[in-house]
Amino acid sequence: MLDGSRIVSRLDTESRDGADRDALLRLAVQEIEAASGRFDWVGIYLLDGETLTLHNYVGEPTEHTQITVGHGVCGTAVAEDRNINVPDVRALDNYIACSVETRSEIVVLIRAAETGQVYGQLDLDSDRQGAFTEADEIELRRVADWLGGLFSGD
Ligand code: SME
Repeated sequence: MLDGSRIVSRLDTESRDGADRDALLRLAVQEIEAASGRFDWVGIYLLDGETLTLHNYVGEPTEHTQITVGHGVCGTAVAEDRNINVPDVRALDNYIACSVETRSEIVVLIRAAETGQVYGQLDLDSDRQGAFTEADEIELRRVADWLGGLFSGD
């Protein structure tokens, strides 16, 4: 089961023990991926200007390591400043396929708590149609909001 609070506790502990931002971004991806068999690919893209760059992931390698804002589900989430849950990616025109097996995808933005400024996103793919629930989004937001705190002062 995906439990964002548990993952945040783990991140807190590692952070107090001196883990740096890159290590914490990797740990978040590993913990999320391990939480459910529904998650076939989990990654974090970071935003720099108009480009999302893949920071780390668990799953099959992808050639889409850079995505322009406005493109695909990932770039649309940034352009429209919202999280996106796609139950069936085959219904989308504006979709960038990382795997032909993927059926559903969710993107949750990593933001600053105070200003809402977007620093990046959690991106999850599933080979199952409609894999991501509202509860998943709530749990992923807990993790994303904690990660947003890593960028304050940037
Ligand atoms: N499907 C995404 C691209 C990233 S891969 O899922 C890893 C999109 O449409 O933006």
